[in-house]
This record gives sequence, C-alpha cells and structure tokens, in this order.
Amino acid sequence: MLTQKKLQAQVVQVGVDHGAIPDHVAIIMDGNGRWASARSRPRTEGHRAGTGNVRRIVQHLARKGVKHVTLFAFSTENWERPAEEVSFLMELVREVIKTEVAELHRQGIRVRHLGTLDRLDPGFRQEIENAVALTALNQGMTLNVAFNYGGRDEIVRAVRRIVESRVPVEDVDEALVRRHLFCPELPDPDLMIRTGGEFRISNFLLFQSAYSEFYSTETNWPDFGPEDVDRALEAYARRQRRFGKVI
Ligand code: FPP
Repeated sequence: MLTQKKLQAQVVQVGVDHGAIPDHVAIIMDGNGRWASARSRPRTEGHRAGTGNVRRIVQHLARKGVKHVTLFAFSTENWERPAEEVSFLMELVREVIKTEVAELHRQGIRVRHLGTLDRLDPGFRQEIENAVALTALNQGMTLNVAFNYGGRDEIVRAVRRIVESRVPVEDVDEALVRRHLFCPELPDPDLMIRTGGEFRISNFLLFQSAYSEFYSTETNWPDFGPEDVDRALEAYARRQRRFGKVI
C-alpha cells in the first residue's frame, strides 16, 4: 500500500500538478440491491448495510485529509422505484440524521444538502434543515448529501432563476451558472467513485464533474471498505489531469 509520502513523490515524478489527495471526493454508492440479492435477502437489507458503511468511509476520507465528500443518497429518478423501497430509503435517511448528526457535529463536520426538499414531508424537511443549520459553522470536512438530487434538475433550476433575474444575455457565463447551483461554493469533485461496477454518471453533479477523475470498482457499496478507498486514492494519484490542455 502506498503511504502518503510515496503518493506525493509519485505525483511529482510524473509531473502532475494536482495534489495526491483529492480535495473533493464524490461517491455513487451503487450495488446495494445486488449485495442483498447475492445473499438472497430483500433489497432493503442492502440499503441498510449500505447505510452502515457510510460512517466508516466518511471517517476514513476525513482521516486521509479529504475536505469535501459528496454522497449520492437519492436521485430525482429514484422516485420511480417501488413505493415500498422509496419509503424505506426515506426512513433510512431520516434515521441516519437522527443517529449521526450529533456525532458529525462533535467532529466539526459540516453537513450540507444538495437537491430540493420538494415531495418530502414537512417533518423530514425540518430535520434536514436543522442538521444543516446545526453544523453550518463547522470548520472541518464538509459532508454533502445529494438527496432528491438530479444534475439536470439542478441545471434547469439554475437556468430558471437566471431567466427570472432578467440578467443581460452577455452576462451569462459559466461563473453565473455556477452561482445558481445548489452549493456554489463547493469546489468541483476531483475524484468521482462509483461502486457496483457500472461506468455511468447517472445524473450526478453533471455541471461540476466536467473534469473529475472517474473511478469505478466492481465492489458493491456495502463491501466497499477503507482499503478500497485507498486503492481509489492511489489510482487518482497516478492520473495526469490536463483539464483539456496539452501538458
Ligand atoms: C444504489 O444501490 C443505492 C441507492 C439508490 C441508495 C443509496 C443510499 C444509501 C446507502 C443511504 C445513505 C444515507 C445517507 C444519509 C448518505 P441500488 O439499489 O441501485 O443497487 P443495485 O444497482 O444493486 O440494484
């Protein structure tokens, strides 16, 4: 396994000018259903196991020095899943908020929500707003939970607000669009990890992932452990980021 020092050295060696440790890691936590099916268990058990995995991975990333983590917890398309699974996922996230937020706050982690509160029941909305407000001034890692989130939906909402503001057409640029995203101050993800073996973005952070390094692993989310995180970070450190330029 590569130590942090070796990672730094490797990066210098290949002349890559990005830090060995990404500032922002975004994760598509896929494969919960398959994890459960492989054990002849209902899909909901996979989601429970996946939820149990969130804490150890977030803590591991924080220990590694990652400053921002964004987790794709529920997409705008996930509403199309069977009603029973949707309500299970809602309850699970509510449970996580109840059981984890105080500890996250104690650790100085700032929790943010990406997405909208549309379609959520008022009590749940309030719980999300309270978690965000409680941790808003924390100076540690930011944990962004993409919940009821869609990348296209985010862009459409940004465009609507820009049009409403009657800004002159020549003032519309990338910076303006960015200022209308859910979390404008969040830096773009350096590394996007997808578990469960697929190679798709699935409507996650479409605007922000333009130059993210993509890493896909066969491992299903509930089995994705700290050593898998390290493998992803090692792969990231070997990438040469060019951002469309010739280096
Ligand atoms: C994808 O697996 C996973 C989801 C749609 C839900 C992920 C949500 C959690 C793990 C809860 C996390 C909670 C917080 C607060 C961050 P899948 O069902 O698509 O799996 P499959 O592709 O094997 O069917």
